[in-house]
Amino acid sequence: MIIDILTLFPESFSYLNESIIKRAKEKGILTINIIDIRSFSKDKHKKCDDYPFGGGAGMLMCAQPIYDAVKSVQNDSSKIVLPSPSGQIFNMNLAKKLAKEDHLIFICGHYEGIDQRIIDIFDPLEISIGDYVLTGGELASMVIIDTLIRQVDGVITKESLDEESFNNGSLEYPQYTRPQNFMGHIVPEVLVSGNHQQIFDWRKKQSLKKTKNIRPDLIKGENK
Ligand code: ADE
Repeated sequence: MIIDILTLFPESFSYLNESIIKRAKEKGILTINIIDIRSFSKDKHKKCDDYPFGGGAGMLMCAQPIYDAVKSVQNDSSKIVLPSPSGQIFNMNLAKKLAKEDHLIFICGHYEGIDQRIIDIFDPLEISIGDYVLTGGELASMVIIDTLIRQVDGVITKESLDEESFNNGSLEYPQYTRPQNFMGHIVPEVLVSGNHQQIFDWRKKQSLKKTKNIRPDLIKGENK
């Protein structure tokens, strides 16, 4: 998979050089290119924002540099994503769908947003990562990319994905590592019993209990 990220702030993406994403790149499963939108500006001062027609607070990102940046990487198989608070809400199903694409282009808006004509011309998939407003699309892009990359074949083990699908629809059960006794707080006996069925049952019960307390809406059927 190739991911091209178009941004005015290329330096914000160092997180994508760490951990699982770093290993996916090393295995050749993933290529991430960070593209500086400013380098496409035809303005003599490389300006990329301007006042909105009709007035209003703040600045908008201009169409020209974004248009040229997209055109520099777009091909027939490209899917364009625009993180935006007015997009459809991101979730695991959407992450799994995006993981099947060959080429993703992320347009990171900043300031008060981007010129509508970019949306009209490219018809990007607008995705919101939640009902709050971030300063720009950079953090949202990283959230979306981090989530979808885990779903690409070969990035993490099948066991880890299976465990995640076991947790699907409910919250993660409590987990512990060594030491068994930390300041008098002891790891639940069942987890050191070696009895896999009992461990499985315990985890399921804990997971359900936590979900009922914190996210009852996730329990199937309850909010339908
Ligand atoms: N850009 C600003 N806020 C955002 C949000 N909540 N989701 C995605 N992109 C955004």
